[in-house]
Amino acid sequence: MAQTRFALLFAALLLASGTSAQNQDRECACDLANLWLDVGVVQVDSDIVTLFGQSTVGSGYQDPRSTRVGLVTYASTATQQFDLNRFNSTDDFIQGIFQYAKVSTDENSIIKSGLSSAFDLMTKARANNVRRNYKQVVIVYASDYKEDGENNPLQIADQIKESGTTIITVAFNQNTGGALTAGLAKIASPGAAFKSTDMNIVGEIQNMLCQVNCFCPDTWVQYTNAFNDPTAWKYGVCLRIGEIDSMWTAAKYACQNLFQGAYLATEFDNKKHDFSRLFFSNDTTNSPPYMYHIGLSYDTATQAYTWEQPANVARLGLSGQTYKAWNSGYPQLTSSTGCVLNQQSGSDSMVGWQNENCYSVAKRYVCELSSCDTSKYCDNRV
Ligand SMILES: *[C@@H]1O[C@H](CO)[C@@H](O)[C@H](O)[C@H]1NC(C)=O
Ligand SMILES: *[C@@H]1O[C@H](CO)[C@@H](O)[C@H](O)[C@H]1NC(C)=O
Repeated sequence: MAQTRFALLFAALLLASGTSAQNQDRECACDLANLWLDVGVVQVDSDIVTLFGQSTVGSGYQDPRSTRVGLVTYASTATQQFDLNRFNSTDDFIQGIFQYAKVSTDENSIIKSGLSSAFDLMTKARANNVRRNYKQVVIVYASDYKEDGENNPLQIADQIKESGTTIITVAFNQNTGGALTAGLAKIASPGAAFKSTDMNIVGEIQNMLCQVNCFCPDTWVQYTNAFNDPTAWKYGVCLRIGEIDSMWTAAKYACQNLFQGAYLATEFDNKKHDFSRLFFSNDTTNSPPYMYHIGLSYDTATQAYTWEQPANVARLGLSGQTYKAWNSGYPQLTSSTGCVLNQQSGSDSMVGWQNENCYSVAKRYVCELSSCDTSKYCDNRV
């Protein structure tokens, strides 16, 4: 009884303080059970069982969101122990991989041989376009790093990365210290070099796998916390510039028609506002003064500014955020100026929000879309 009263009081306090939902950009979903990747592991540590223990290993399930895992081991030469079709359930995988769960400390280990074999494994796994829409990952556990002469692994590592596959490395020997870590960092994709002694190594790799599984359809650019930085943290949001000058109302429908679930872009905070501006001005077909429509407009029914959302999803109120980017003197609302664009007003390339006529101002625009990730499967058509 006392507990119920306390809960009610607490709920009332929350409502009163107005800390309810703030407008927020979508984070990449990270539900490990629905991870959908193709993974080649090069040597393993016993962590591997925990790493994929919550995931659906194999393929051919009714839900296409599953992860295939294969294994290469190596010393001076490499062996493909399991191709990516070998395991058809998580239990099967755990049982099969267990006997190999030990990183070789053989001093004759040549990492290049492991990587070459992994590249071959991943290429075969994709033969006949099988699971072409699944991102590929190679996870390398290594206790030694050799870069001399014909054993130099950098070229094959670059080839793997250029093919679109992410390389995650785990340095597995404290003793070789700096040299091993520095060497593996050259092989790894940006931000994907880890150490087995890291506090939460399994969690770190799982987060990285979710980031890899979070991507945009071709021709869309992913919103991240740093423009043009390959190590930046990805949001579950994709952006694309509408290529034809259109009035706001036409731009709204153009975004919706560009891709299922797309809509005119939102700006919930300064980071997103800046990212969109950099994205827009980075496109050399746009020149200053920069002007482009965004998904903000005045809704006469509710008498409030609201943000576009996917068709059939309720729009979000501007009241749900503290961030506003109005140019000085704005908003200036009349019955014909309910729509909003970003407008450069000074000689720097900064832009701010301004009201505009919804039917007459022909400008480019920025569209937005949820990324593909563990909660959103994207088939081959993307
Ligand atoms: C899984 O694979 C094994 C070995 O390839 C096979 O013996 C088994 O029948 C398969 N199980 C299912 C459910 O497909
Ligand atoms: C920025 O512009 C450069 C040069 O045109 C291009 O290669 C790059 O992909 C652009 N970056 C983004 C994120 O659009």
